[in-house]
Amino acid sequence: GLRAVSPQDLAGTRVLVTLGPTREFFDPVRFWSNPSSGTMGASLAVAAWLRGAEVTAVCGPVSLWLPPAIHRISVTTAKEMFEAASDIWPSADIGIFSAAVADFSPKSYGATKFKKDSGGLQVEFTANPDILGTLAASKRTNQRIIGFAAETGDLASLAREKRERKNMDMIVANNVLTPGAGFAASTNEVTVIDSNGREETWPTLPKTEVAWRLLDWLSLL
Ligand code: CTP
Ligand code: CA
Repeated sequence: GLRAVSPQDLAGTRVLVTLGPTREFFDPVRFWSNPSSGTMGASLAVAAWLRGAEVTAVCGPVSLWLPPAIHRISVTTAKEMFEAASDIWPSADIGIFSAAVADFSPKSYGATKFKKDSGGLQVEFTANPDILGTLAASKRTNQRIIGFAAETGDLASLAREKRERKNMDMIVANNVLTPGAGFAASTNEVTVIDSNGREETWPTLPKTEVAWRLLDWLSLL
């Protein structure tokens, strides 16, 4: 019969993946979030698992199937994602931070539903923990970090700056305004920059293919 085989170049490595959006509720029925579907992160989690890694996926609210062999931790808020990822990171070899983490959460949470006739809605926000930023600060020399950047401006220069500032070994940047790329698409068009100064822009590809190529690049670092 027909059989698919993958290289086992990640055998014996532990991979942490954050994926999906986070939700920041300001009352029991309403939240602030973004359109992330978790597809890019799930593609990376599956690719790493196929290549022999032991994978833990910290997932924001997504409706995605993952192979049962991937250890899945489901969270809702950025704070919960931060706590789960912080527990896993010390024992991981590779951190893939693909989650679209909400940068802010509402200052207060109304225990009862806000009523629309109560005179307009005003929500005050406070900064969330930066998961990648915090964990990258404790990166050991044998740990590797892949980070993402969703931008609307000059992609390459924003990504170069972000990779350095956040201590990533590799950054995967996409312009969220490009059709067929980024949030909730099945394809992506990315610019990849690594710590050796290697920089490439790839054509629009299925996210599964982008994931596979990213792991190929990482193996050279
Ligand atoms: N990230 C994270 N925790 C956050 C914010 C971002 O782990 N609270 C991670 C993302 O998963 C991504 C990288 O940091 O891998 C960059 O995210 P991005 O939103 O592009 O950058 P920010 O540093 O949040 O800056 P800004 O949104 O202002 O561009
Ligand atoms: Ca952000």
